[in-house]
Amino acid sequence: MDLEKLLSDRLAPAFAAVAGSPVDPLVRRSPRADFQSDAALALARRLGRPPRDIAAAVVAHAVLDDVGVSAEVSGPGFLNLTVSDLALADLVIRLAGDTRLGVPPTATPQTVVVDYSAPNVAKEMHVGHLRSTVIGDAAVRLLDWLGHRVVRVNHLGDWGTPFGMLIEHLIDLGEAEAARNLSMGDLDTFYRAARVKFDADEAFQERSRLRVVALQGGDERTRRLWRLLVTQSERYFLTVYDLLDVTLSADDFRGESAYNSLLAGVVDDLDRLGLLLPSGGAACVFPQGFSGRDGEPLPLIVRKSDGGYGYPATDLAALRQRVGELGATRLLYVVGLPQRQHFAMVFAVAQAAGWLRPPAQAEHLGFGSILGADGRMLRSRAGGSVKLVGLLEEAVARATDLARSRNPDLDAAAADEIGRAVGIGAIKYADLSVDRTKDYVLDWERMLALDGNTAPYLQYAYARIRSVLRRAGTAARPDTTIVFAQPEERALAVELLGFAGVVGEVERSLEFHQLAGYLHRLATAFNAFYERCPVLRAADELRESRLLLAELTARTLRQGLHLLGIRTLERM
Ligand code: ARG
Repeated sequence: MDLEKLLSDRLAPAFAAVAGSPVDPLVRRSPRADFQSDAALALARRLGRPPRDIAAAVVAHAVLDDVGVSAEVSGPGFLNLTVSDLALADLVIRLAGDTRLGVPPTATPQTVVVDYSAPNVAKEMHVGHLRSTVIGDAAVRLLDWLGHRVVRVNHLGDWGTPFGMLIEHLIDLGEAEAARNLSMGDLDTFYRAARVKFDADEAFQERSRLRVVALQGGDERTRRLWRLLVTQSERYFLTVYDLLDVTLSADDFRGESAYNSLLAGVVDDLDRLGLLLPSGGAACVFPQGFSGRDGEPLPLIVRKSDGGYGYPATDLAALRQRVGELGATRLLYVVGLPQRQHFAMVFAVAQAAGWLRPPAQAEHLGFGSILGADGRMLRSRAGGSVKLVGLLEEAVARATDLARSRNPDLDAAAADEIGRAVGIGAIKYADLSVDRTKDYVLDWERMLALDGNTAPYLQYAYARIRSVLRRAGTAARPDTTIVFAQPEERALAVELLGFAGVVGEVERSLEFHQLAGYLHRLATAFNAFYERCPVLRAADELRESRLLLAELTARTLRQGLHLLGIRTLERM
């Protein structure tokens, strides 16, 4: 049902016959026909023959008639591919009869561990955690829908030296007061107060140092106070996840501390493998291919000079556990690009140690920053980092106001529902619709606009179709005959058939802007169709056909948005 793949499958043997070796036919949508293949051009250069001759030879070899496709050489040597109306109509009917919209569950299910969100205990979540959470959630939804076994891991920062000072601050405040402070969701105030004391007060510093030792030594009271910090923070993070409407739950927290008991073993094994080198009192691995600005090999510090283990050791232990115990063959890390080198080095060391080897593969899904209107890193008015909840609440408030101003008769409950779905949807879509590795500017007007490549545009298209279908009274009949009376109907049909191909592509790339871009094209094709082709006023067969196209569009938009973690609304 994936048209692009079908054409590609049919052209590949023809190209291979002409070239004498496998060639990717490079099929894509075409402004001149339904699709085009550009592969003859490069092949001609390789074979030293005229491109049009190559293209003609491919046409002669290709078997396309039985699927209703005709091919024609055009321009310097393109192949224009046109699907017959009959074949297209047939594919649309089959698509409409498929609850999965042409996307079969994967034939090769994998265990995929997705490491995402990962805020730090007793610290506010910032916009970097927003990106990680939103992208990770989309990855989880998509891979899960495709039938992979997905393990969500929220690699909470819940360990390390700051906990000495945090626990001492908690003791100073008293447990009840500390718990109250933290439950108000003002984690930064708590953290900053501890920090200020630490910087100003030597006695506090000393207490904090001793507290770290007690924590690492497993002292019971210290552990209990640490737990209190972790639990309060987790509770708070869960409220953010709830507001953000992501699938992360309390069961998915697996903080850095969860790997404590494995760290000594990791370092011992690296030593046994001969990978460990002392460097300034610390124990390091120097993975191949990493050097600093001075050309000196770069160390990954697995045990610090004070004997403690840090971030890299924990990631090595976690990786080993994910492959060894969870049986992961795909390991995803949704973390900002500044940590690119950290992950590259961790993966290299894990490979050298034999903990990461095919079929298991690790990928760092790095992402850029969110910028303010001034084009610089997003900052609060006071100059600090922007509090995530504040941002989400603002999105919801703005979307609610917009909904009310567009429709003053809206009752409060409906306005709230729309405000939440549109506000949160807009935030997520603004993030997922751009190249993940790029920075983007947080622009309220643009992301809440009803036109453009935005969530509200897609949600509105969906709601509009649902309203047409409600007015039609009956559901579209699956045994309808599809009629292409106008070119817009045809264009919409071709777009609908592209869903499976895009989902398959994103399964590999996890570049969600490809899916977002597809949904935007689909909604645009629908709007063009709707402008040109009356649905409810059409008669008989034509009405049925158009209703079916409309319904299929709604289902595809809904599923696509759902994969991005964005809600659809029946009315807007
Ligand atoms: N807690 C870290 C931070 O806030 C992110 C952790 C990412 N995951 C990992 N396995 N290192 O930057």
